[in-house]
Amino acid sequence: MESKPELRILIGLPGIGKSTWASKFVFMNPDHRIICPDDIRKEITGDAGDQSKNDEVFELVFNRLNTLLQSQENVIIDATGYRRSNRKKLIEYGKKHKAKIIAVRFCPDISTALSQNNKRDRRVPNFVIINMHKKWEEPSPEEGFDEIVIV
Ligand SMILES: Nc1ncnc2c1ncn2[C@@H]1O[C@H](COP(=O)(O)OP(=O)(O)O)[C@@H](O)[C@H]1O
Ligand SMILES: [Mg+2]
Repeated sequence: MESKPELRILIGLPGIGKSTWASKFVFMNPDHRIICPDDIRKEITGDAGDQSKNDEVFELVFNRLNTLLQSQENVIIDATGYRRSNRKKLIEYGKKHKAKIIAVRFCPDISTALSQNNKRDRRVPNFVIINMHKKWEEPSPEEGFDEIVIV
């Protein structure tokens, strides 16, 4: 029987707890792979916060996503995903591989995001988080999500 891979797209402000959630989830569900643009930035530039090679970073994100879904692996995309335009291509890849596409939506609570971000090793500038919050777009089923999980 052909299995259907699951694609989880995390949606949350920096600092809100996405990477923490992803590592716990994978600890409980070891048959899932995480693709995290911050980790790829670190691989390429040596600095997870370096935004200068984003084209290359996202090319790798999509290459890896394609390869993993092709081999029926379950994938978690650990990025902010706060705009529909950020999610569109990920959803298209999921559809292409007939994956079950799940939005994991973290509460866009600006004060929690800012205070947890300040406790983190790598801090994102506050104004970046505030701007993301202003541009936040809620995930909806019509984008192509089969399920929306609220964290
Ligand atoms: N549920 C939580 N309650 C309290 N602190 C948390 C929680 N989740 C994450 N944190 C802490 O908040 C900071 C940011 O978490 P992180 O997972 O790196 O966020 P993100 O990946 O969304 O930027 C870390 O210091 C982490 O330990
Ligand atoms: Mg993170």
